[in-house]
Amino acid sequence: MHDNKIIFHPIGVIHSPHKVMSKTPIQPVFCSDIKGTVVLDAEYADGLKDLQEFSHIYLFYYFHQSQKTCLRLKPYLSDQEHGIFATRTPHRPNKLGMSLVRLMKIKDTILHVKDIDILDGTPLFDIKPYIQRFDSRENTRSGWQDAIPDDVASVRGLRNSKR
Ligand SMILES: C[S@@+](CC[C@H](N)C(=O)[O-])C[C@H]1O[C@@H](n2cnc3c(N)ncnc32)[C@H](O)[C@@H]1O
Repeated sequence: MHDNKIIFHPIGVIHSPHKVMSKTPIQPVFCSDIKGTVVLDAEYADGLKDLQEFSHIYLFYYFHQSQKTCLRLKPYLSDQEHGIFATRTPHRPNKLGMSLVRLMKIKDTILHVKDIDILDGTPLFDIKPYIQRFDSRENTRSGWQDAIPDDVASVRGLRNSKR
């Protein structure tokens, strides 16, 4: 058993138009153009140097509104049960979220982003640049997701969010 604790301190807050879990799009790819901001704590301002050169960034954050943890569940796009680690659900043991969003501009310690699938007020853990050389893959498999047609995914994935 692991009895070590790791204490994370948020480094900022994510703001978005999404206030309700059940109406929030399930991935950035389904909410193109929805705007949000990432407000980084002032003490980390120096770490933003050169980030504006990147078109996309990964946000790592805490699913602070998740009230449960499951090991199996039916994810939003599937009517079948899957193991939690084969899904992107918020209801995971450490409640770690990761979204690839478009970086529009940086003003002081505020990052303006698009394609946001994150609830307003979400605590931010980290920011990393998307680097095509490192992150792009060919000949991939996406497990149970491969059986879901794109048109079904895009309708269910948007989840009636208001744009
Ligand atoms: C399926 S998760 C995917 C999130 C991320 N792109 C990922 O892959 O880790 C997206 C859903 O998480 C939920 N969500 C977003 N921010 C949250 C938060 N702070 N607490 C709990 N749930 C959240 C919303 O219901 C949204 O539809």
